[in-house]
Amino acid sequence: MFNHAQLALLQANVPGLPQHRIANIFRPLATPGASEKNIALLTLAITGVIFVVVAGLIIYTMWRFRRKPGDDEHQEPPQVYGSNQIEVAWTVIPILIVFVLIGVSARVIAGVENASPPASTTKVTLVGHQWWWEVDYPQFTVRTANEIHVPVSRDGNNATYLTLESQDVIHSFWVPQLGGKMDLIPNRQNFTWIDPREPGVYYGNCAEYCGTQHANMLLRVIAQEPADFNTWAANEAKPAVEDPSVSAQKAVYQSLSCVNCHTIRGTGSIGQFGPDLTHLMSRENIGAGVLTNTPEHLRAWVNDPQAIKPGCLMPSMKLTDKELDQVVAYLETLK
Ligand code: CUA
Repeated sequence: MFNHAQLALLQANVPGLPQHRIANIFRPLATPGASEKNIALLTLAITGVIFVVVAGLIIYTMWRFRRKPGDDEHQEPPQVYGSNQIEVAWTVIPILIVFVLIGVSARVIAGVENASPPASTTKVTLVGHQWWWEVDYPQFTVRTANEIHVPVSRDGNNATYLTLESQDVIHSFWVPQLGGKMDLIPNRQNFTWIDPREPGVYYGNCAEYCGTQHANMLLRVIAQEPADFNTWAANEAKPAVEDPSVSAQKAVYQSLSCVNCHTIRGTGSIGQFGPDLTHLMSRENIGAGVLTNTPEHLRAWVNDPQAIKPGCLMPSMKLTDKELDQVVAYLETLK
């Protein structure tokens, strides 16, 4: 699912959180993921039997009718044409298999898509963009990007309900251990839910080809204890930190066209096109998972996003070294 560089990046540690989880559909840790695992196993079992039967017949035939010393060169096994029994068997059996899989899949899809959110759940609106994820929490007036913080779910409580939308083209939500794939479609709302049972970081990726940087549209679900989640949400809901020691740097940021695309709440920066930067420093990654969020990486990113994520919609701003230092110094205060 990931290349080496991405995997190494994803495995970098997040302080205070348990070990990272490798995306693996066979180790589900949420209800939708577990039901999807069952479909995967059923499909694997059926196709496994078909494979063994077909491959077995081929191997048997090759062995049984192999050329033996003294055989006539043109000897062939008996040729069968127009056998009604065989025709009926290979028509009826696949149809039955297809109907069984349709039935099982429809049940799981209905269970995932039509479950109505209980009042106590966390609601998240996930909006796909080329090539990043906007993450809105209508209950907390919080907006962030690429990292979905959710409370861990115990005893079926504290599920997170996701409303999936898209700003441009079709994307797809897929966090293999939790659930998916569910498409994010322009002018339409899809719904899904997740209930991660253990705290930790769950990796996902956009699962529908959406353009040149589809592969770098990584997603993380960070499942936290409810108290930690509430602390995070309370901080995210606040306007941006006002740090007087960087007011000159902030003025430089505000004089640049960054403000046309990014919002920093509580400042004049109200652009909607790119990710909200109000609490940029609370995120572990930048560029939808393409870099870890360190000061050096942030500087490299602001300097020339096209060198790091070619084709992404953030242009190089051609800032001077001094402006870069100032912008990054200001962004570093957005805790
Ligand atoms: Cu978004 Cu692929």
